[in-house]
Amino acid sequence: MPEQGREQWTSRLGFILAAMGSAVGLGNVWRFSYVTGENGGAAFLLIYLICILLIGIPIIMAEFTIGRKAQSDAVGSFEKLAPGKPWKVAGIMGVAAAFMILSFYGVIAGWISYYFVNYLTGNLWTMPAEGYDGFFVNFITNTWHPLIWQFIFMVLTIGIVFVGVKKGIERANKILMPLLGILLIVLSIYSLTLGGASEGLAFLFTPDWSALADPKIYIAALGQAFFSLSLGMGALITYGGYLSQKENLPGAAYSVAGLDTLFAIISGIMIFPAVFAFGIAPDSGPGLVFMIMPDVFDSIGFGGGIFGLAFFFLLAAAALTSAVSLLEVAVAYFIRKFSWTRQKGVLIIGGIIFLIGIPSSLGQGVLSNISIIGDRDILDSFDFIASNIFLPLGGLIIALFMGWGWKKADALRDSDYGDSAIGQLWLFLLRYLAPIAIFLIFLSSIGFFSTGVE
Ligand code: PHE
Repeated sequence: MPEQGREQWTSRLGFILAAMGSAVGLGNVWRFSYVTGENGGAAFLLIYLICILLIGIPIIMAEFTIGRKAQSDAVGSFEKLAPGKPWKVAGIMGVAAAFMILSFYGVIAGWISYYFVNYLTGNLWTMPAEGYDGFFVNFITNTWHPLIWQFIFMVLTIGIVFVGVKKGIERANKILMPLLGILLIVLSIYSLTLGGASEGLAFLFTPDWSALADPKIYIAALGQAFFSLSLGMGALITYGGYLSQKENLPGAAYSVAGLDTLFAIISGIMIFPAVFAFGIAPDSGPGLVFMIMPDVFDSIGFGGGIFGLAFFFLLAAAALTSAVSLLEVAVAYFIRKFSWTRQKGVLIIGGIIFLIGIPSSLGQGVLSNISIIGDRDILDSFDFIASNIFLPLGGLIIALFMGWGWKKADALRDSDYGDSAIGQLWLFLLRYLAPIAIFLIFLSSIGFFSTGVE
């Protein structure tokens, strides 16, 4: 029986749409493009795809299975299924990751919202005097403007979670996500005509194998896979908890992973040809989309601003459904733990997350000389710790829990795999391949396998 007062998705489609809405977001466009650009392109993409196939999909299935079985939040699910056992640390880390990720996600989504409004007012329809790059840098290094937009975006996120799970998310997703998909396809076809097509496509699809020698691309690819799939922190456990027993889980898992990956690849085809056409360095970092896309819209000429408007609007909407799932992970835990009302939980947790995000915003300007990890600024450091460490580690524990903590027959039945060969493969991946691969990637990221010759 579901816990008292727990909502359920209104339809089968509702759940898949919500999981897709969580997965598809800034991770597919903003983060995918700049991380791919920084890590050499095609070789990175290949590792990323392998991570999705062999580690991501099995763990999505594990999260769905755990969530539906337990019908509780990220921590409560482990407490319910394995009382008194330490597995729930995955859930606790997941809640911590939700705080960290949403804190900087709100900042970037605020930037997107600001661009949307600047296309709405026509301000960016023609190139500003300081150029598009200058416009971007002036904005993010300003103390107050990005904070205001981060605040606005967080208020929207809080508002949606405030009114409950199903009402807010299901409706918007059904219309806006397909529109975003169509727009990205149209823009990627256009981008291919800009003169950088061969270089851009080669960068994205023809691997430079020497890039594989760099140990940092593995952890970057793994982190990107987890981030983009909303994986490793119990977001999909929490959403799975609102699911009825009727769902076919493997079908849902493949659709979510497939669609999310498709969005990322299409974004790549949209961005990299343009990057080469306009002579911007692919490894320009987190500002990449903000610097390149206005050039693309500008080059369309009259009416290009409409595309800019639609692009930033739909991306902000996609970011909103992802942000909602992040907030939901934290809120679902706290309202159960402290018996708060949903409303109270949403306001408190949402408010705290906004505050935690402030240093990430200021880190672009007044606090830009502060770096936490290596030469990463505050935002990047939060991202690194949460996405490249917490999520994969959470995923590792979830894989072990499903693979070793459950009876084999139960796992196969509860996942809807039944006694099929693919079910056996799934358990093999969870038991051995995924945990070992994640472990090795961690070792390599701390320089364990490097010869010391750089
Ligand atoms: N997957 C989301 C995106 O790509 C971000 C996210 C990460 C959401 C983790 C929930 C949990 O934008």
